[in-house]
Amino acid sequence: MAEARRPLVVGNWKMNTTVPEAVALAEGLLRLLPAAPAAEIAVLPPFISIWPVHLVLADDPRVEVGAQDCYWQPPGAFTGAVAAAMLQPPCHHVLVGHSERRQLFGDSDEVVRLKLEAVLRAGLNPLLAVGETLEQRDRGETEAVVKGQCRFALKGLGAQGLGNCTVAYEPIWAIGTGQTASPADAEQAAGWIREVLAETDSGVAARARVLYGGSVTAESAAAMLAPAGVDGALVGGASLDAAQFCGIVGAAAPGA
Ligand code: PGA
Repeated sequence: MAEARRPLVVGNWKMNTTVPEAVALAEGLLRLLPAAPAAEIAVLPPFISIWPVHLVLADDPRVEVGAQDCYWQPPGAFTGAVAAAMLQPPCHHVLVGHSERRQLFGDSDEVVRLKLEAVLRAGLNPLLAVGETLEQRDRGETEAVVKGQCRFALKGLGAQGLGNCTVAYEPIWAIGTGQTASPADAEQAAGWIREVLAETDSGVAARARVLYGGSVTAESAAAMLAPAGVDGALVGGASLDAAQFCGIVGAAAPGA
């Protein structure tokens, strides 16, 4: 039997929290989390709070820190940008391809691919977000969109690079709307994502974690994380409340 995948629960704080608020949120997490959570846990504070949050979390193995985005060029004359190489230390994960980056900041599939490669070059773990709009869903294009975004970002990476990637299925219509996909939708999308991974390496596909994201709360987490193919959650709004986030962590159990 394949080894069980350890669930991963990621809190994406987006453009929220001042530095003192971010530190307080991290301290709250350490107070409320169980001593030995079943899930791996990561939080993605805004860039300015990554280091202060790291200082809170560094001596505690329960929570890792990551970044919400990066620029794909090596360090240099790129005003306002943060290179992947600058995130190491202290980050473990870097989110790429979030729909807010794609829709509001113009990150194309090409840019997402360049960022993902830069994250791997920096020795960090990319967390790739993919997902369809409501219009695409209504037109029956969900499978094509999810697979297309995955192929563009991941194809040709090779088993080693791919092995460091986690993919999150995030239907855009479910993000910040209070409306989750059904557990069956999430399971189906996770299956499509693993099919794309298996085009490179079936072993990597079996070991890779696929997350669900979109309005996950402490109340909905148990149902959303129940399908065998869903290995955790990418959480936005509910990750800003330590008790809510810990409730989601508590719902994550090792998968098949
Ligand atoms: P949400 O955000 O949990 O607030 O819907 C999820 C995400 O954008 O990753």
